[in-house]
Amino acid sequence: MTNEQANNSNTIRTIGIVGCGQMGAGIAQIAAQTGYRVMLHDTRADAARNACTTLARTWTRLVEKGKLTADEAQAAQGRLSPVDRLANLAPCDVVIEAIVENLDVKRALFADLEGILAPNAILATNTSSLSVTAIAARLSRPQRVAGFHFFNPVPLMRIVEVIDGLMTDPEVGDQLLALGQAWGHVAVRAKDTPGFIVNHAGRGFGTEGLRVLAENVAPVAVIDRILRDCAGFRLGPFELLDLTGLDVSTPVMESIYHQYFEEPRYRPQPILKTMQAAGLLGRKTGRGFYVYGDAAPAPLPDTSWNGTPAATVWISRAHPALAERAIRLAKGCGARVSVSERPEADALIVVTPLGEDVTSRIAAEELDAARTIGIDTLFDTSRRRVLTSSPALDPEWAARAGALFSADGVPADLVRDSIGLVTQRVVAHIINIACEIAQQNIASPDDIDRAVTLGLGYPAGPLAWGDRLGPAVVLALLENLARISGDPRYRPSPWLRRRATLGLSLTTQEA
Ligand code: NAI
Repeated sequence: MTNEQANNSNTIRTIGIVGCGQMGAGIAQIAAQTGYRVMLHDTRADAARNACTTLARTWTRLVEKGKLTADEAQAAQGRLSPVDRLANLAPCDVVIEAIVENLDVKRALFADLEGILAPNAILATNTSSLSVTAIAARLSRPQRVAGFHFFNPVPLMRIVEVIDGLMTDPEVGDQLLALGQAWGHVAVRAKDTPGFIVNHAGRGFGTEGLRVLAENVAPVAVIDRILRDCAGFRLGPFELLDLTGLDVSTPVMESIYHQYFEEPRYRPQPILKTMQAAGLLGRKTGRGFYVYGDAAPAPLPDTSWNGTPAATVWISRAHPALAERAIRLAKGCGARVSVSERPEADALIVVTPLGEDVTSRIAAEELDAARTIGIDTLFDTSRRRVLTSSPALDPEWAARAGALFSADGVPADLVRDSIGLVTQRVVAHIINIACEIAQQNIASPDDIDRAVTLGLGYPAGPLAWGDRLGPAVVLALLENLARISGDPRYRPSPWLRRRATLGLSLTTQEA
């Protein structure tokens, strides 16, 4: 933060909150806790007063837990004042709206506020899906409007996106950035584009998980556990969709897809509509991709491989670094690794695809398809192994492969042939979208990574993740996905291509 930004945030003392539901109350909480006066208004009778009562209870609990002192709680409570009339917000330096997500209603509110507030007051919108520019467009001072996008629950999700509309005075964004930081959040800056940073970057995980499911690569529970164990996501895409609810996540997916004029990278899948039609919305309806409550079946057990582990393994050296890891794994599981140029007749044949499917590797290396399997060694293999068949795999060799690669007690899943196995295609897709966000200058590389780790809880920022895997590796992976699928969804972002080609970090900005 520059001194100037700090000074600006210091001149902001009084915050108005319009809309005292879940989000408005959360924003009021962090503002009052950090010393700001907060005036709350809602058109629903008693909503503002009720929010103050609820916050008083929250603060009592925080005192009981030792997170706040009694004096601090009392001081925070003393800073809240519910107001019945919008006109009472006149002394506010910043008014944040967290009302219904409707463009016309938000425009009308801001038009009213312009007639009430001082000319240099800031009008901030907590919208997650509307254009900040559109909300500001018909006002007399559109330069005083910006997005201030918090996440639910506000006190726990310590990230806020500050969004500059096309007409926003940059100083307004600077002030909100400083304000968000003063409230204890990480504040990131984004251009006014569909989904801003977090909801844009978040398009990769769910849509690619759905695509893997749509291609019938593996059942829901297997895709989820692979992405948890091999990539480190807290929840798999289907667990997450069920938690959020399809009624919430499907409209976001569709809206961003259409707002980017049917950009294939954001393409949803028809299964979402079918499930919605059936009312299978997730946890809230007792059934989504999984069944919940009393009718819930036992969790899917790990596959038990009863075959005799393959004794000899021939491993393709087409991708040397990945092959090295497969060799170590096979040896650790007790197999002899063949050093011959071509596979012996009794050897299990193992390929280590990078974005390719097993079928393509079989064809490229003229391998015996009946005994060739793929294994993903780009990601963590210490908690789970992902083996891939091809349509020609002999079930006996599948059993031998499964028994071998789980011989040390780590579970192994066998999935059907797929470009980029499961983890590779999902993670590469996420990194590619983040690169595109950087390429379009929607946000800085640092802000993209911070927003994604805090807003989405991914194990790493996508650009840092790409650096860890190696930009050239991610580029090759995506090129293979794009080439074999023929789907422009996987075309590498120029941001990735240039940095991979020049041997630079994905966080490198061009002067
Ligand atoms: P909510 O439904 O809990 O609360 C909205 C409140 O606004 C209600 O109390 C309602 O009476 C009041 N309200 C509606 N129209 C009003 C008006 N014209 N003037 C004054 N008050 C009015 O909604 P929630 O979840 O708090 O969301 C509010 C806003 O925050 C929406 O724009 C939403 O897109 C955005 N948002 C929501 C997130 C979420 O996870 N719930 C996350 C990020 C943003």
